Amino acid sequence: MNLNAFYAMSYGVYIVSTWDEKRPTGCIANCAMQITAEPATIAISINHDNFTNKCIEQTGKFAISILSENTDPAIIGTFGFQSGKDMNKFDSVKYDIQGDMPIIAAGCAYITCEVINKMETDTHTVYLGKVLEAEVQSKEVPMTYAYYHNIVKGKSPKNAPTYIAEENINNKTSEETKSEKYVCSVCKYEYDGDIPFEELPDDYVCPICKKPKSFFQKQV
Ligand SMILES: Cc1cc2nc3c(=O)[nH]c(=O)nc-3n(C[C@H](O)[C@H](O)[C@H](O)COP(=O)(O)O)c2cc1C
Repeated sequence: MNLNAFYAMSYGVYIVSTWDEKRPTGCIANCAMQITAEPATIAISINHDNFTNKCIEQTGKFAISILSENTDPAIIGTFGFQSGKDMNKFDSVKYDIQGDMPIIAAGCAYITCEVINKMETDTHTVYLGKVLEAEVQSKEVPMTYAYYHNIVKGKSPKNAPTYIAEENINNKTSEETKSEKYVCSVCKYEYDGDIPFEELPDDYVCPICKKPKSFFQKQV
Protein backbone atom coordinates (compact mmCIF):
# COMPACT_ATOMS: atom_id res chain seq x y z
CA MET A 1 0.00 0.00 0.00
CA ASN A 2 1.38 3.44 -0.95
CA LEU A 3 0.37 5.72 1.93
CA ASN A 4 1.25 8.75 -0.20
CA ALA A 5 -2.08 8.18 -1.97
CA PHE A 6 -3.78 9.53 1.15
CA TYR A 7 -2.04 12.88 0.58
CA ALA A 8 -4.14 13.26 -2.57
CA MET A 9 -7.27 13.65 -0.41
CA SER A 10 -8.42 17.15 0.64
CA TYR A 11 -9.60 18.47 4.01
CA GLY A 12 -10.10 21.69 5.94
CA VAL A 13 -8.87 22.56 9.42
CA TYR A 14 -11.55 23.03 12.07
CA ILE A 15 -12.07 23.38 15.79
CA VAL A 16 -14.70 20.93 16.95
CA SER A 17 -16.12 22.44 20.13
CA THR A 18 -18.58 21.40 22.79
CA TRP A 19 -19.06 21.69 26.57
CA ASP A 20 -17.59 19.94 29.57
CA GLU A 21 -20.56 20.80 31.78
CA LYS A 22 -20.28 24.64 31.93
CA ARG A 23 -16.74 24.79 30.53
CA PRO A 24 -16.20 25.19 26.76
CA THR A 25 -13.74 22.72 25.29
CA GLY A 26 -12.77 21.21 21.94
CA CYS A 27 -10.01 20.04 19.64
CA ILE A 28 -8.62 20.53 16.15
CA ALA A 29 -10.08 18.20 13.53
CA ASN A 30 -9.46 17.94 9.82
CA CYS A 31 -11.92 15.06 9.45
CA ALA A 32 -15.21 16.95 9.16
CA MET A 33 -17.46 17.06 6.13
CA GLN A 34 -20.98 17.74 4.97
CA ILE A 35 -22.72 14.42 4.32
CA THR A 36 -26.22 15.45 3.16
CA ALA A 37 -27.98 18.68 2.11
CA GLU A 38 -31.58 18.23 3.23
CA PRO A 39 -31.56 17.96 6.12
CA ALA A 40 -28.01 19.31 6.27
CA THR A 41 -25.78 16.90 8.19
CA ILE A 42 -22.10 16.95 9.10
CA ALA A 43 -19.85 14.00 10.00
CA ILE A 44 -16.79 14.25 12.23
CA SER A 45 -14.32 11.59 13.35
CA ILE A 46 -13.03 11.97 16.92
CA ASN A 47 -10.42 9.77 18.61
CA HIS A 48 -11.61 7.69 21.56
CA ASP A 49 -8.78 9.12 23.70
CA ASN A 50 -9.67 12.75 23.01
CA PHE A 51 -11.41 14.52 25.89
CA THR A 52 -13.66 16.18 23.28
CA ASN A 53 -15.13 12.77 22.43
CA LYS A 54 -16.38 12.16 25.97
CA CYS A 55 -17.83 15.69 26.09
CA ILE A 56 -19.71 15.33 22.76
CA GLU A 57 -21.06 12.02 24.04
CA GLN A 58 -22.35 13.78 27.16
CA THR A 59 -23.82 16.91 25.55
CA GLY A 60 -25.10 15.33 22.31
CA LYS A 61 -23.99 18.53 20.54
CA PHE A 62 -20.95 19.88 18.77
CA ALA A 63 -19.95 22.88 16.66
CA ILE A 64 -17.27 23.32 14.06
CA SER A 65 -15.38 26.59 13.66
CA ILE A 66 -13.81 26.81 10.21
CA LEU A 67 -10.29 28.23 10.58
CA SER A 68 -8.76 30.65 8.08
CA GLU A 69 -5.27 30.81 6.58
CA ASN A 70 -4.64 33.74 8.97
CA THR A 71 -5.47 31.72 12.08
CA ASP A 72 -2.69 32.10 14.65
CA PRO A 73 -0.84 28.73 14.58
CA ALA A 74 -0.75 28.94 18.38
CA ILE A 75 -4.53 28.24 18.36
CA ILE A 76 -3.78 24.99 16.51
CA GLY A 77 -1.01 24.31 19.03
CA THR A 78 -3.39 24.68 21.95
CA PHE A 79 -6.41 22.89 20.47
CA GLY A 80 -4.50 20.26 18.51
CA PHE A 81 -1.68 19.22 20.82
CA GLN A 82 -3.02 19.71 24.34
CA SER A 83 -6.00 18.21 26.12
CA GLY A 84 -9.05 19.88 27.62
CA LYS A 85 -8.62 17.33 30.43
CA ASP A 86 -5.65 19.40 31.65
CA MET A 87 -6.52 22.98 30.72
CA ASN A 88 -9.19 25.48 29.73
CA LYS A 89 -8.31 25.88 26.05
CA PHE A 90 -10.88 28.61 25.48
CA ASP A 91 -9.13 30.87 28.02
CA SER A 92 -6.55 31.65 25.33
CA VAL A 93 -8.95 32.65 22.51
CA LYS A 94 -11.79 35.09 21.90
CA TYR A 95 -15.03 33.19 21.53
CA ASP A 96 -18.80 33.73 21.36
CA ILE A 97 -21.72 31.56 22.32
CA GLN A 98 -23.86 30.87 19.24
CA GLY A 99 -26.86 28.57 19.41
CA ASP A 100 -25.65 27.47 22.89
CA MET A 101 -22.25 26.45 21.51
CA PRO A 102 -18.78 27.98 21.99
CA ILE A 103 -17.50 29.39 18.68
CA ILE A 104 -14.02 30.81 17.95
CA ALA A 105 -14.42 34.53 17.12
CA ALA A 106 -11.61 34.46 14.53
CA GLY A 107 -13.15 31.72 12.36
CA CYS A 108 -14.38 32.06 8.76
CA ALA A 109 -17.71 30.43 9.59
CA TYR A 110 -19.33 28.14 12.12
CA ILE A 111 -21.85 25.32 12.08
CA THR A 112 -23.62 23.96 15.15
CA CYS A 113 -24.99 20.41 15.24
CA GLU A 114 -27.05 18.00 17.28
CA VAL A 115 -25.76 14.40 17.27
CA ILE A 116 -28.27 12.15 15.51
CA ASN A 117 -26.14 9.04 15.06
CA LYS A 118 -22.66 7.65 15.60
CA MET A 119 -20.46 4.77 14.49
CA GLU A 120 -17.53 3.29 16.38
CA THR A 121 -14.30 2.34 14.62
CA ASP A 122 -11.32 0.76 16.42
CA THR A 123 -9.85 4.17 17.21
CA HIS A 124 -12.42 6.89 16.44
CA THR A 125 -16.11 7.68 16.87
CA VAL A 126 -17.76 9.01 13.72
CA TYR A 127 -20.50 11.40 14.84
CA LEU A 128 -23.28 12.40 12.50
CA GLY A 129 -24.73 15.81 13.37
CA LYS A 130 -27.90 17.47 12.14
CA VAL A 131 -27.13 21.12 11.45
CA LEU A 132 -28.93 23.51 13.79
CA GLU A 133 -27.28 26.80 12.81
CA ALA A 134 -24.67 27.97 10.32
CA GLU A 135 -23.21 31.44 9.86
CA VAL A 136 -20.39 33.13 7.92
CA GLN A 137 -18.09 35.21 10.16
CA SER A 138 -15.55 36.63 7.71
CA LYS A 139 -14.39 36.63 4.09
CA GLU A 140 -11.00 35.19 4.97
CA VAL A 141 -9.72 32.20 3.01
CA PRO A 142 -10.48 28.91 4.80
CA MET A 143 -7.37 26.95 5.78
CA THR A 144 -6.92 23.62 4.05
CA TYR A 145 -5.10 20.68 5.59
CA ALA A 146 -2.52 20.97 2.77
CA TYR A 147 -1.95 24.67 3.59
CA TYR A 148 -1.43 23.74 7.26
CA HIS A 149 1.20 21.17 6.31
CA ASN A 150 2.92 22.93 3.40
CA ILE A 151 2.76 26.62 4.35
CA VAL A 152 2.32 26.71 8.14
CA LYS A 153 4.68 23.68 8.28
CA GLY A 154 2.49 22.08 10.94
CA LYS A 155 2.21 18.37 11.70
CA SER A 156 -0.63 16.15 12.90
CA PRO A 157 -0.54 14.11 16.11
CA LYS A 158 -1.29 10.37 16.27
CA ASN A 159 -4.90 11.03 17.31
CA ALA A 160 -5.71 12.61 13.95
CA PRO A 161 -7.51 10.07 11.73
CA THR A 162 -5.23 11.01 8.82
CA TYR A 163 -1.95 10.64 10.77
CA ILE A 164 0.87 8.99 8.80
CA ALA A 165 4.07 8.05 10.67
CA GLU A 166 7.20 9.84 9.37
CA GLU A 167 8.96 6.55 8.59
CA ASN A 168 6.09 5.57 6.27
CA ILE A 169 6.41 8.67 4.11
CA ASN A 170 8.58 7.71 1.20
CA ASN A 171 8.72 10.83 -0.95
CA LYS A 172 11.67 12.46 0.85
CA THR A 173 14.69 13.51 -1.13
CA SER A 174 18.01 12.07 0.02
CA GLU A 175 18.96 15.64 1.08
CA GLU A 176 15.90 15.86 3.37
CA THR A 177 16.57 12.43 4.82
CA LYS A 178 20.25 13.02 5.53
CA SER A 179 20.47 16.61 6.80
CA GLU A 180 20.15 17.23 10.51
CA LYS A 181 17.07 19.05 11.70
CA TYR A 182 15.55 20.45 14.87
CA VAL A 183 12.07 19.20 15.71
CA CYS A 184 9.71 20.36 18.46
CA SER A 185 9.14 17.38 20.76
CA VAL A 186 5.53 18.45 21.45
CA CYS A 187 3.99 19.27 18.06
CA LYS A 188 6.74 17.91 15.72
CA TYR A 189 7.19 21.30 14.00
CA GLU A 190 10.44 21.16 12.04
CA TYR A 191 12.50 24.36 12.28
CA ASP A 192 13.35 25.61 8.78
CA GLY A 193 14.37 29.23 9.35
CA ASP A 194 17.35 30.97 7.74
CA ILE A 195 19.24 31.44 11.04
CA PRO A 196 20.96 28.24 12.24
CA PHE A 197 18.92 26.77 15.10
CA GLU A 198 21.80 27.04 17.62
CA GLU A 199 22.01 30.79 16.95
CA LEU A 200 18.35 31.51 17.69
CA PRO A 201 17.77 33.71 20.78
CA ASP A 202 17.04 31.94 24.08
CA ASP A 203 13.48 33.30 24.07
CA TYR A 204 12.67 31.61 20.72
CA VAL A 205 9.44 29.62 20.98
CA CYS A 206 7.87 27.05 18.68
CA PRO A 207 5.56 28.96 16.27
CA ILE A 208 2.91 26.23 16.52
CA CYS A 209 2.70 25.17 20.17
CA LYS A 210 4.72 28.02 21.78
CA LYS A 211 6.99 25.65 23.72
CA PRO A 212 10.49 27.10 24.43
CA LYS A 213 13.64 26.38 22.43
CA SER A 214 14.66 23.71 24.96
CA PHE A 215 11.80 21.49 23.74
CA PHE A 216 13.48 21.12 20.32
CA GLN A 217 15.51 17.99 19.68
CA LYS A 218 18.22 17.51 17.10
CA GLN A 219 17.44 14.70 14.65
CA VAL A 220 19.91 13.37 12.14
C1 LIG B 1 -4.08 19.38 11.95
C2 LIG B 1 -4.70 18.47 12.98
C3 LIG B 1 -5.80 17.69 12.63
C4 LIG B 1 -6.41 16.87 13.59
N1 LIG B 1 -7.52 16.14 13.23
C5 LIG B 1 -8.15 15.39 14.16
C6 LIG B 1 -9.38 14.74 13.83
O1 LIG B 1 -9.94 14.87 12.74
N2 LIG B 1 -9.95 13.96 14.79
C7 LIG B 1 -9.39 13.79 16.03
O2 LIG B 1 -9.94 13.06 16.85
N3 LIG B 1 -8.24 14.44 16.38
C8 LIG B 1 -7.62 15.24 15.48
N4 LIG B 1 -6.49 15.92 15.81
C9 LIG B 1 -5.89 15.70 17.15
C10 LIG B 1 -6.59 16.44 18.29
O3 LIG B 1 -6.84 17.79 17.95
C11 LIG B 1 -5.67 16.35 19.54
O4 LIG B 1 -5.50 14.99 19.89
C12 LIG B 1 -6.17 17.18 20.72
O5 LIG B 1 -5.08 17.37 21.61
C13 LIG B 1 -7.30 16.52 21.49
O6 LIG B 1 -7.70 17.39 22.52
P1 LIG B 1 -8.77 16.97 23.63
O7 LIG B 1 -8.15 15.88 24.46
O8 LIG B 1 -8.99 18.24 24.43
O9 LIG B 1 -10.01 16.52 22.94
C14 LIG B 1 -5.88 16.79 14.91
C15 LIG B 1 -4.80 17.61 15.27
C16 LIG B 1 -4.20 18.43 14.32
C17 LIG B 1 -3.04 19.32 14.72
